[in-house]
Amino acid sequence: MNKLCKLAINGGEPIRTQPWPAGQVIDRADEERLLGALRSGTWSAGPATRTFETEFAEFCGVRYCLLVENGTAALRLALQAVGVGPGTEVVIPGMTWPSVAAAVLECGAIPVPVDVDLSTLAMSTAAVEMAITTRTKAIVPTHLFSSQADLPPIIEIAEREKISVIEDCAHVPGARRFRKVLGTFGDAAIFSFNQKKLLACGEGGCLITNDTCLFERAAALRHFDVAPKLLVPGTHLPSEFQAAVLITQLHKLPARLDLMESLAERLRSLLEAIEGVWPLARLPGTDRQTFYNFCFRVGGVRDIVWFRRALAAELNLPMSGGYQPLSEVSALDTKSDPRFRELGTHLRTDLPNCSTAHHRQAIRFRHRALASDEKSIADIAHAVEKVTAFVRRRE
Ligand SMILES: Cc1ncc(COP(=O)(O)O)c(C=O)c1O
Repeated sequence: MNKLCKLAINGGEPIRTQPWPAGQVIDRADEERLLGALRSGTWSAGPATRTFETEFAEFCGVRYCLLVENGTAALRLALQAVGVGPGTEVVIPGMTWPSVAAAVLECGAIPVPVDVDLSTLAMSTAAVEMAITTRTKAIVPTHLFSSQADLPPIIEIAEREKISVIEDCAHVPGARRFRKVLGTFGDAAIFSFNQKKLLACGEGGCLITNDTCLFERAAALRHFDVAPKLLVPGTHLPSEFQAAVLITQLHKLPARLDLMESLAERLRSLLEAIEGVWPLARLPGTDRQTFYNFCFRVGGVRDIVWFRRALAAELNLPMSGGYQPLSEVSALDTKSDPRFRELGTHLRTDLPNCSTAHHRQAIRFRHRALASDEKSIADIAHAVEKVTAFVRRRE
C-alpha cells in the first residue's frame, strides 16, 4: 500500500501535526476593560452592561438588547415575554442544544421537537407546518453550526397562525441574509456567549428585539428590583466582568468573522469537489455566513464514529458529530419528574433526519481551525480526501 494512503489511525503519517490557533484572541484592550470593571466597584449590571447592550443592539441593527447570565436564561425570558406558559406548546428543532427544550419545560410549556433539513441541520419548514396546533405559542428556529435556518417560510407560517418566532442565534452573531442580521427576522432572538462561542465571555447570553412591549416584559423578568406585573421574575442579571469582556471581544469580532468566512468558503469548495462529501448549505441570499464550528456530512460511511477518529488523527484536531437528537438525551427523559412528566411526551419522538445526521453523516470541528491560513484549509481538505478514499476502497 502506498505510504501516503496509510491512515494515521493505522500508524501512517498524519497530514498535520502542528497545533491549531487558540480559541480566543485576547489583548491589552480586554485586560484593561476587565480591570476597569474590577476597580470600578460596581460588579453587577452597571455601566459596562449598558455599554455592551447599546453596542450589541447597534451591531445587530435593533432597538433593544438585554444581557443576562447565559443564553438559556435569555431564551426563557424571551419565551415568557411572548406568553409561553402552562397550556402552550413551543416548536423547536429535534437537533439542538438540550437546554432549549429545558427552557420551554421551565416555562411550564410543552416542547415539540420537529425534524431537520439535512442540508442545513435546521428545522424543516414542512415539519414546522405539521407541528402547529391551536396551542402553539412560539417557534424557535435554531441557526446551527455553519448554516442557517431558512426563515422566510417559517415566518410566513408564524404570521398566518399568529405565533411568535424567537430565533436561536447562539451560533451566529453577525450572520446576515437578505442584508439583515440574523436575529432580526423574528419577534426576538437570543445569543449565547459561553466559552466556546464565536463571541464569548465564559458564560453569558442576551436577548434582542425591536418590540418595546416584549423588551419591557423581558427586562421586568430579569430581576426582582424591577416591579413585575403578573410575571414572576428571577435573578438573571449579568456581572460587569461578563460585559467588560464582551465589549472588547465584540470590537474584534467582525475581523475574525471575515477571516473565518473566507477560509471556510475556500474549504467548502474543496470539500464539494470530493464525491459524497457535503458541507452544510450556504442558503441563497446569504451575505455573511458565520462558522461556529465547521460542519459537513459524508455519505455511505458504515462507521461514522471511526471516520471521525480517523480524521482527527490525520489533523491533530478533535472531530465530533451534530448534536445528539433530543429524543436520546437522557437528561431530558422527564418520566421521573412529576413537574415535567406530561410536558416531556413529545421529547421522546424519534426523528429520522436528526438520527441520520448525528449517527451516520455529520462531522464537525471547532472554528479555531478556521482562524488560520490557506495551508491549514488545504490540510483539512486533504485529510478528508484521504480518509474518504480509504473508506471507499474498503467498503
Ligand atoms: C443552539 C444553542 N442554543 C442555546 C444555547 C444555550 O446557551 P448557554 O449555554 O449560554 O445557556 C446553546 C449553548 O451551547 C446552543 O448551542
